Amino acid sequence: MAGRIGFRYMKECLTQKLKSMGSPVAKSRHLSSAASSGSSSSSSSSAAAAVKPKFPHSSRKGRLLTGATIGLLIGGGAYASTVDEATFGGWLFNATKVVNPFFALLDPEVAHRLAVTAASRGWVPRERKPDPQILGLEVWGRRFSNPIGLSAGFDKNAEAVEGLLALGFGFVEVGSVTPIPQEGNPKPRIFRLREEGALINRCGFNSEGIVAVAKRLGAQHGKRKLAETSSTSTSSNDEVKQGGKAGPGILGVNIGKNKSSEDAAADYVQGVHTLSQYADYLVINISSPNTPGLRQLQGRKQLKDLVKKVQAARDEMQWAEEGPPPLLVKIAPDLSKQDLEDIAAVALALRLDGLIISNTTISRPEEIQSNPVSKESGGLSGKPLFGLSTNILKDMYILTKGRIPLIGCGGVSSGEDAYKKIRAGATLVQLYTAFAYGGPALIPRIKAELAQCLERDGFKSIYEAIGADCR
Ligand SMILES: Cc1cc2nc3c(=O)[nH]c(=O)nc-3n(C[C@H](O)[C@H](O)[C@H](O)COP(=O)(O)O)c2cc1C
Repeated sequence: MAGRIGFRYMKECLTQKLKSMGSPVAKSRHLSSAASSGSSSSSSSSAAAAVKPKFPHSSRKGRLLTGATIGLLIGGGAYASTVDEATFGGWLFNATKVVNPFFALLDPEVAHRLAVTAASRGWVPRERKPDPQILGLEVWGRRFSNPIGLSAGFDKNAEAVEGLLALGFGFVEVGSVTPIPQEGNPKPRIFRLREEGALINRCGFNSEGIVAVAKRLGAQHGKRKLAETSSTSTSSNDEVKQGGKAGPGILGVNIGKNKSSEDAAADYVQGVHTLSQYADYLVINISSPNTPGLRQLQGRKQLKDLVKKVQAARDEMQWAEEGPPPLLVKIAPDLSKQDLEDIAAVALALRLDGLIISNTTISRPEEIQSNPVSKESGGLSGKPLFGLSTNILKDMYILTKGRIPLIGCGGVSSGEDAYKKIRAGATLVQLYTAFAYGGPALIPRIKAELAQCLERDGFKSIYEAIGADCR
């Protein structure tokens, strides 16, 4: 109300000011003062006197306006100085909603490039508010402040780890990284199905390669570690536990193979040798639909051979006392019951540290078939993938008897979705497509909703909810 009155008052004063500039008297005053900038004060005071009778209250209003402006500035400044960083950060998260529609007008890959660049330069809001305690959990001996992660494919070349973690993700997975740099498939290769909250992509592992990514991760690792050390040394809270190797945020590194490579295992071994020192966990991605023959590595024998080789490569490296990073395998949602049983058997026999369920699907669910974009070849992600990926997550949780941490991924766009993944057996949750559409503001929202879901159903922690729908 006060704001509206103030606005009306300012509008009135402005109108009068404009009128005065347009009036012959005022014009002559401007002219005369411009023409006689060096003239005597008596001439200017006489011009001022000529104006006065026309607008007898303008100077009082002017003083009032100036006073009100100064008051607003002081009041605003005082508010800004007392408002806590968390509230200010919250405002910035909301502000990103204004920018989002502009991104939606751009070609998907251009929009993605801009988003990665912005995050790499720190032009993104930082989440200052601590995560709700109920969301905290320990997996693989590491503390996650929340279970919501960014899945592979967004930051393929590890350009923006720090900025993305700052948004409030509990963990960020970079990659897939291939041994040798490769361009991937010709563009356009990412397609929006906006109405359906989905994407189809056939990127085909566009990657700068393990050497470029290792260099980048090495430099960032040092910086993140330095920031962590300086922030903890000045912090009065000594109970803060370090999450990842280089700071509270946890970094996953997802490894792929080159399209032209004949020896898949050799490619993954190279990835492990070069990148695992920076990884809090490693992922063997054998489920991208856009690299010919890749998904065949999910077969029982192939998977067993591959995992053995990769585990051996990791374990023969020298590790400090915290040991080698856990090794996970990312699987497709397009698997038969028999495939799932085979994967579960291998995972249990070889003591795999985790499975990510799932990558994109080559299927085209009924609900998207009327959209002509659904005819594009590639992997479908986003909302239409939710049911399919959650069902196989549940199957895998039952097959592995809840003994292996599972990361639920596919179609998560709300806290309720994340909660359903956890109830279906996920220890951690990842998303990509909903973030591409919703932007940074989605992350605090998902976390708050997830905490509400847990509390609503009487769970005291994430652990209690894991697999609740499978019991
Ligand atoms: C454009 C795009 C690129 C992707 N690139 C990769 C990748 O390089 N490696 C990988 O393991 N998954 C990749 N993914 C799959 C995602 O990590 C995720 O598994 C999938 O999109 C399902 O999650 P969502 O429905 O939340 O997007 C990509 C997804 C998209 C949309």
